[in-house]
Amino acid sequence: MKRLKIFLLSFVVCLQTAHAGDDWGKTGHRVTGEIAQKYLSKKAQREIDKLLKGTSLAFVANYGDDIKSDNAYRSYYPWHYVNFPFDSTYELHPKSKKGDLIQGIYTCIEFLKSDTSTEAEKIFHLKMLVHFMGDLHQPLHVGLSEDKGGNDHDVRWFKKRTNLHVVWDTSMIEDYNMSYTELAANASKLSALQLQEYQNGTVIDWMYDSRELCKEIYENIEVGDALGYRYMYDNFNVVRSQLQKGGIRLAVLLNDIFG
Ligand code: ADE
Ligand code: ZN
Ligand code: ZN
Repeated sequence: MKRLKIFLLSFVVCLQTAHAGDDWGKTGHRVTGEIAQKYLSKKAQREIDKLLKGTSLAFVANYGDDIKSDNAYRSYYPWHYVNFPFDSTYELHPKSKKGDLIQGIYTCIEFLKSDTSTEAEKIFHLKMLVHFMGDLHQPLHVGLSEDKGGNDHDVRWFKKRTNLHVVWDTSMIEDYNMSYTELAANASKLSALQLQEYQNGTVIDWMYDSRELCKEIYENIEVGDALGYRYMYDNFNVVRSQLQKGGIRLAVLLNDIFG
């Protein structure tokens, strides 16, 4: 009986660890994919359909996390985030030799634009790009290395012990309790000007956009804070607009790549 208990306990711990690094969480990444799908040009839509065999961007949006369980893909782990100190900039701070989110996105674009990439390489890098554009819009994925983007910043979420990163990746979205299609369908209605503002800029500009939000998150939190309804009330609209920006900007990149 005791052995069974230990076995079950380690199983639960393993499950929790496996979930710790799921980025926006499955729903968040799918929302970004689903929103991007609506902004694709006809040509991009056709090319992407061919590569993904008719499956949707939402369907492949979590591939970047799925492959984390396979050691063969270990080298991609640092591509999910970019960290540098608040008093520095991406350009000034020494780049990680193992790669980072920005280098990861650039590499995906390069493979997708190149005439010499194989079809398998294009499929792989398309699925990764869909995922990474989600990560780029999770403010704590443009974070600080000292607390691993909030992973080492313990907080409570409705009495449960967790960390700041998980609250932003998953807890708020899960608690809202809408499916990815419902969240995508209920994204804010944007004026032509607002849409253009979201579409403008470069990958680097979009990263700094997340960076500002990341700074605000730290200004409004202490280690050990008990978060719940009030935190959700103050921040869920930021989550929604980040998911929407991620989708719209993913479509900008894909429309450029596939012309
Ligand atoms: N590990 C180290 N830094 C991280 C970050 N900013 N986001 C997710 N995982 C990380
Ligand atoms: Zn994450
Ligand atoms: Zn990720």
